[in-house]
Amino acid sequence: MKALVLSGGSGTRLRPFSYSMPKQLIPVVNKPVLEHVLDNITALGVTDIGIIVGERADEIRDALGDGAQLGARLTYIHQDAPLGLAHCVRLARTFLGDDDFIMYLGDNMLPGGIKDIAARFTAERPAAQVVVHQVPDPRAFGVAELADDDTVVRLVEKPEHPGSDLALIGVYLFTPAIHEAVAAIEPSPRGELEITDAIQWLVTHGAEVKAARYTGYWKDTGRAQDVLECNRRLLAELTTHIAGDVDATSELIGPVVIGTGARIVRSRITGPVVIGAGTLIEDSHIGPDTSIGDNCVLRASRLVDSIVMNGASIVHIPGLTGSLIGRAATIGPSDHDQAHHRLVVGDHTHVEVAA
Ligand code: TTP
Repeated sequence: MKALVLSGGSGTRLRPFSYSMPKQLIPVVNKPVLEHVLDNITALGVTDIGIIVGERADEIRDALGDGAQLGARLTYIHQDAPLGLAHCVRLARTFLGDDDFIMYLGDNMLPGGIKDIAARFTAERPAAQVVVHQVPDPRAFGVAELADDDTVVRLVEKPEHPGSDLALIGVYLFTPAIHEAVAAIEPSPRGELEITDAIQWLVTHGAEVKAARYTGYWKDTGRAQDVLECNRRLLAELTTHIAGDVDATSELIGPVVIGTGARIVRSRITGPVVIGAGTLIEDSHIGPDTSIGDNCVLRASRLVDSIVMNGASIVHIPGLTGSLIGRAATIGPSDHDQAHHRLVVGDHTHVEVAA
């Protein structure tokens, strides 16, 4: 079995981050989403992994290299434009050969793992197996209609009147039968080669398509609020590990991870909180539900339910909550004018201030 991880795409919903980094590298509990994805794949014993990369290919290569550190062998496959999930399968034809494979969206988090799902595929080996998850409002998803034995009867992309509450989520298992299907379909009205169309093509042509139900926590980290929610959810599993320095006047409450070379000075950390290597926290109150990356500086600030990426600095900000702060961003008081806010923010940035 091989794996194909999709890490191209345009990431419009995660602007402004996707202007400067591939969204799959956004950290959740200080680890890129894409690494969480690869961990779930290597946990199956699958190590031969193709990665679809788009215009931000270089950053993904820099982060993952040849995959040896993750126990995988990575093959990068370039996609010139995000022409759809089925287009990715077409591009990977040579890499995939005639092997079965698992296709995994590089921005989807399934912290419960997918061992049961993969085992079921191996045992039953239908032409294709989709993974479904019960959602309250399935209209924004591909929706599966199933027979009693979980055979897929019909798949509909974003239906106005859904025939079930089972949304397709970002993991698929395929036999080589999918290659004929992706070659046969035409682009959808939005101009993409849709994987749902290819799987529906299999159903229509009499191939066996099964659905496996994933009942654990699942998140498509497509938007900032999804990333924060997922971070909270994973932080709930945190266990304390202190490598850095905590001075005698600081207080740690609940599960806290403090990285090597980090310093906590005159501060209170209310877990769950993870603090990266080399970060300085001074005269601040951090947490709960917060991840701070490496080499950040937080001084005289109060920060709750947030993610701060590597190299950012936050100084004299007493009430920051629900925030996603990018790499090397600086937030602090004005040098010249104490009476006004002064902002230098990129395109599609979202700022909410206390009125
Ligand atoms: P999406 O999140 O559906 O698409 P997107 O990345 O373009 O995001 P947005 O809707 O915010 O503009 O893609 C799911 C995953 O698949 C994601 O990791 C990107 C990847 N992908 C590709 O690699 N190639 C593609 O052609 C598409 C459409 C997505």
